[in-house]
Amino acid sequence: MIMEDQEKSKAQLLHELQTSRRQLVELESRVGRHQESMKRLSMLATFPEQNPNMVIEINQNGMVSYLNPVAQHRFPELWVRGFQHPLLTSVPSIITTLKQDGQDYIGREVDLGDAVYEQKICYLREEGLIRIFSHDITALRRAEEAVQQMAEQLRGLARRVVMAQEEERQRVSRELHDEAGQALTALKISLELILESLPPDAAEPGQNLAEAIALTHTTRQRIRLLAQGLHPPVLTTLGINLALEDLCRDFSKRTQIMIDYQGLEIPPQTDAIHLCLYRFLQEALTNVAEHAGAAQVWVNLDVRDAHVCLSVQDNGRGIDGGNAMFLAKNSGGIGLLGMRERLQLLDGRLEIDSKKGMGTRVTAHLPMGKTL
Ligand SMILES: Nc1ncnc2c1ncn2[C@@H]1O[C@H](COP(=O)(O)OP(=O)(O)O)[C@@H](O)[C@H]1O
Ligand SMILES: [Mg+2]
Repeated sequence: MIMEDQEKSKAQLLHELQTSRRQLVELESRVGRHQESMKRLSMLATFPEQNPNMVIEINQNGMVSYLNPVAQHRFPELWVRGFQHPLLTSVPSIITTLKQDGQDYIGREVDLGDAVYEQKICYLREEGLIRIFSHDITALRRAEEAVQQMAEQLRGLARRVVMAQEEERQRVSRELHDEAGQALTALKISLELILESLPPDAAEPGQNLAEAIALTHTTRQRIRLLAQGLHPPVLTTLGINLALEDLCRDFSKRTQIMIDYQGLEIPPQTDAIHLCLYRFLQEALTNVAEHAGAAQVWVNLDVRDAHVCLSVQDNGRGIDGGNAMFLAKNSGGIGLLGMRERLQLLDGRLEIDSKKGMGTRVTAHLPMGKTL
């Protein structure tokens, strides 16, 4: 029995030994491969012939003394033009700096118009040679430029969308105010005239008419508020503080949610900033009414680090997962995304703080004095 156990553990040990040996062989071959590739890399550095980038050497007399095959193929005229060649612009003064400052190399970028190169200009002190490595980064630069151009186009487009939206709101607001508003006023006057001309014994029609007059009046009020929300004239007549406070008061009256407004008297800003702050508050309050289930809201306008900051904090249910932008993208709503877009157009940003069950705070930060 004991013999049997010993045999078993011997076999197991043998098996483990074989596995370890196999692992060792595998490791050795990996180390070998790694050393091989390191050797190849250092060969590339010391043997410019193999270098896939351009290598140019300048001797002590300031003459081009060597071009590797890539450089020879791309710019054979370097032999003749030397420092006059655009690829070697300012190289003499760089050589002077290298020699004076004791640096080993200086890196720079050279833009030839049709191609861009990243250059490393090295001083080989012992040989007294200058070796210049030039790496073609044209594709990278062109791609970066294309991305930047695209971002600018998008910004331009967003700006136009915002402006078109504001113009449309202004138009609808004017039409509501002038057309619908005035028609309702005229209707109210007509109804009042009919009411006056009714015989004194027509109690029931009189009652109905009075109700119609009251309804006309409240509809007229609602249209006035709607027109004002679409295009806030209060912004120019009252100033930003009173306009924002007015908006809070209307919201509170409409929704029965309490609002505490604290507004610092900020220096007058551009129309674009005033309108952006107003739209931000409208959107944030709409979100509170639609999603938060809050009983109280705190709105705060102040200035921090040359930025106008407007924050809207509620005590509602908070945003699930705290990731409001993710929700905004997936809710199909354009509220928060639109807000962020508008703020970015004025170099501002949107900040959202929220935890489930702990309320939400959205803040607009706008650098002072910007215009669209
Ligand atoms: N104050 C808030 N309290 C709770 N949830 C909010 C609040 N504001 C925004 N949210 C959440 O963020 C989402 C995105 O808001 P928004 O971009 O304005 O789109 P929408 O209001 O059209 O759904 C909302 O659907 C809601 O889930
Ligand atoms: Mg919304």
